[in-house]
Amino acid sequence: MERGELLYEGKAKRVYRTDRPDRYLVEFKDEATAFDGKKRGTIADKGPLNNRISAYFFALLERAGIPTHYVETVGDREMLVQAVTIIPVEVVARNIVAGSLSKRLGLPEGTPLSQPVVEYYYKRDDLGDPMINCSHVVALGLATAEELHRMRELALQVNQVLKEHLEPKGIVLVDFKLEFGRVDGQIVVADEISPDTCRFWDRATGEKMDKDRFRRDLGGVTEAYTAVWRRLTGEEPDVRG
Ligand code: TMP
Ligand code: ASP
Repeated sequence: MERGELLYEGKAKRVYRTDRPDRYLVEFKDEATAFDGKKRGTIADKGPLNNRISAYFFALLERAGIPTHYVETVGDREMLVQAVTIIPVEVVARNIVAGSLSKRLGLPEGTPLSQPVVEYYYKRDDLGDPMINCSHVVALGLATAEELHRMRELALQVNQVLKEHLEPKGIVLVDFKLEFGRVDGQIVVADEISPDTCRFWDRATGEKMDKDRFRRDLGGVTEAYTAVWRRLTGEEPDVRG
């Protein structure tokens, strides 16, 4: 598949056109940012690891009947995806209090939630991705009420599938962020599902196995992402750097 024009460059990925109008190429970078880009760094091998981990989760979701943009892995840092239009709403699902929810509501990190919480954020870097609610989403025309309903339903299904899959592997799914795309009149899970976009805690030790290690300067970031891959597959990742 030919790599065409660079369509979009984000903080962690680049998206290219290909020689097929219905396919994009996603390239995962090693660069990492946090706190609206105020903290910057590079995580060795993050691109190849997130490419593999995302492909693993997208394939898992597809097997569970959840549509995603994933088509196939075509390189160490590259996956081929359906050419979707990204809906500018980040959907966060939470099982346990952590991160911004802990700060906003003054609840200690680790507090279990009696049912999953779904939140919406307006995908606008210049505004720092503000939290919005369902009526903002519809009134601003970011998505229709039907699309919003479907995104919420899919986010809860993804939560169930990921949580149940990770549990026997000793990983607690604390929370995660999804993005959705429109393609052929359908809503599909897009973007990535990786330790950059999820919180994973080791069930036995409570150790963080995700980007919080970078955000909070805990060290061992590549090691944590590698450990996620090892837990998922039982194998060492074959990353070429
Ligand atoms: P938060 O607690 O900072 O709101 O994050 C909730 C989840 O969303 C967490 O798993 C990390 C993920 N996330 C992203 O993927 N991108 C972001 O820009 C932010 C702020 C969070
Ligand atoms: N990626 C986001 C940023 O650069 C935030 C995060 O993941 O914490 O601001």
